[in-house]
Amino acid sequence: MTDKPANAMWGGRFQMSPAEIMQEINASIGFDKRLAPQDIRGSKAHAQMLAEAGILTKSDAKEIVKGLDQVQAEIDAGTFEFSVALEDVHMNVENRLKTLIGAAAGRLHTARSRNDQVATDFRLYVRDAIDGIDAALERVQQALAEKAEAHAATVMPGFTHLQPAQPVTFGHHLLAYVEMIARDRGRFADARKRLNESPLGSAALAGTSFPIDRKRTAEALGFDRPMANSLDGVSDRDFALETLAAATITAIHFSRLAEEIVIWMTPQFGFVKLSDRFTTGSSIMPQKRNPDAAELARAKVGRIAAAFQGLAMVMKGLPLAYSKDMQEDKETTFDALASLRLVMAAMAGMIGDLEPVPEAMRAAAGRGYSTATDLADWLVRELKMPFRDAHHVTGSIVKAAETKGLDLDKLPLADMQAIEPKITKAVFSVLSVENSVKSRTSYGGTAPQNVLKMARHWLRRLEKGRAKG
Ligand code: ARG
Repeated sequence: MTDKPANAMWGGRFQMSPAEIMQEINASIGFDKRLAPQDIRGSKAHAQMLAEAGILTKSDAKEIVKGLDQVQAEIDAGTFEFSVALEDVHMNVENRLKTLIGAAAGRLHTARSRNDQVATDFRLYVRDAIDGIDAALERVQQALAEKAEAHAATVMPGFTHLQPAQPVTFGHHLLAYVEMIARDRGRFADARKRLNESPLGSAALAGTSFPIDRKRTAEALGFDRPMANSLDGVSDRDFALETLAAATITAIHFSRLAEEIVIWMTPQFGFVKLSDRFTTGSSIMPQKRNPDAAELARAKVGRIAAAFQGLAMVMKGLPLAYSKDMQEDKETTFDALASLRLVMAAMAGMIGDLEPVPEAMRAAAGRGYSTATDLADWLVRELKMPFRDAHHVTGSIVKAAETKGLDLDKLPLADMQAIEPKITKAVFSVLSVENSVKSRTSYGGTAPQNVLKMARHWLRRLEKGRAKG
């Protein structure tokens, strides 16, 4: 027996204090103190419900709520002392409450367990995070749609295999990400809907014999309804997994845009410029301007995806109901959500800062025979050639242009006619990159008029979304 006191919460059964390593591996206060605001919200709702149900006296409940507000104030002021010996946020808060209000504090844990308590706290935390993420994603969409409106007609090369494929507009390219982010927001919204049920009142695993009102606490905490099965209530973390999956997909989208910014920033491409605000220099090479923020936004997806993977492995094969394994749900989730917050804010900033270099984009758009498809389409439309034949003829014309070292729109008509005699000079109207993009008027296509319409549609839609709150 050591001279340290046995645990204050379960000292009835225990005589010895825990081994040091037991305390070290067991304590979660180092990271779950972040859940204190949610823990206090949950406890207040629980106490008020207990009083309404006649399980607590009104005056005890009043004391408890007042005391919990005091604890929150101490945390806000930074004067609260978290203790490792008290293991986690739940026991730290309750212990402080006892010091503040005395005996009534001991009644707060009636009809409740740390198992439903932590499940409630973590759900509230993840829900708050989802709301923050949605607002941040909206800001990125706004930045993208504004840039897209300004550059609805700015021609750039469109790529497949990172080879010049067909000209597109910069606005069109940016709006592709607005669409992706819209689906990301949809995934978070879906996750939020399924998350939004209250585990509180599941107690340790089997429910409780006290006449609690779970609907009341669910409502007080903004949940749609109580979870229907107490075992499920305390033992699943699918809401965190689903949110991390949505975060991973979102981060994948951002890593692609970040990678494009990195590529566009190279002198070889020179498509965009970032100001001093979003670049760094080199300590040795004076000429360098590095897109570090984009690189980090590209990299953060690693830890976000790892958080999903990590929690999936923690949950895999766990028997119902609660096991301490589940305490491992927090650190990586906190880290992933914080990382995503950084990525979103940095991307919104970078997109606003980004200045395209239209001359460089335009010049690159014309290289690599990017209007070859337009030529083939012209042959189909004007000469009624089957597309496969037109593809072949165009291939030969590209080869002729390549041999002469000329762009397609600079190749003399005679050279084209040597390959296909029926070609007329009208063909030149489709060979410029401007006319190429202008002709892509099919729904969802890159024609500047489409892009402008879509950019404005998005700007209106985003404004309406904000008005609705
Ligand atoms: N710190 C714990 C966690 O995060 C709280 C729940 C503890 N429950 C228990 N039965 N030991 O999971």
